[in-house]
Amino acid sequence: MDMDGNDMNRSEVHIDEKTWYEGGEEYWKIIAEKGKANMDGMLGGLTHVHDTDITESQNFMKLLNLRTDYVLDVGSGIGRVAEHLLAPIYANIDLLDINAEFLQVARNNFSQLPRNPLRNVFCIGLQQFRAQGPIYDLV
Ligand SMILES: C[S@@+](CC[C@H](N)C(=O)[O-])C[C@H]1O[C@@H](n2cnc3c(N)ncnc32)[C@H](O)[C@@H]1O
Repeated sequence: MDMDGNDMNRSEVHIDEKTWYEGGEEYWKIIAEKGKANMDGMLGGLTHVHDTDITESQNFMKLLNLRTDYVLDVGSGIGRVAEHLLAPIYANIDLLDINAEFLQVARNNFSQLPRNPLRNVFCIGLQQFRAQGPIYDLV
């Protein structure tokens, strides 16, 4: 299906990289403009999955037994995952997202934490991002 819910056949599904990323960026820009720079917007209306998402992700991460110094949250949005899953575990958190408004909400939310682990906020598409060395324990 395309973004309007119309059926597409296989030959229509091939789009070039630039169109693909611009379409994604535009979609999230519209979500922000609709005032959905919030949990509802991040989860496409499925806010009720948030608690289960965080709990099951915590369980999964315990199994991985990783170092817990530095993490990069890619496509962080407003920092829902970073705040609720990563902040209690990681000392240092970087966020990366294509949408500046989402990242500003994340900055505000993090600034209210008793211990703010936020380090860098990258407003850039992942496809253009180059990490400054192998610093992350988890991406
Ligand atoms: C479904 S939301 C998830 C947000 C957050 N991870 C969460 O679970 O609450 C997807 C996020 O990916 C971001 N995004 C989409 N394409 C991206 C890209 N090419 N590079 C970086 N971020 C992107 C969007 O702006 C949006 O914030």
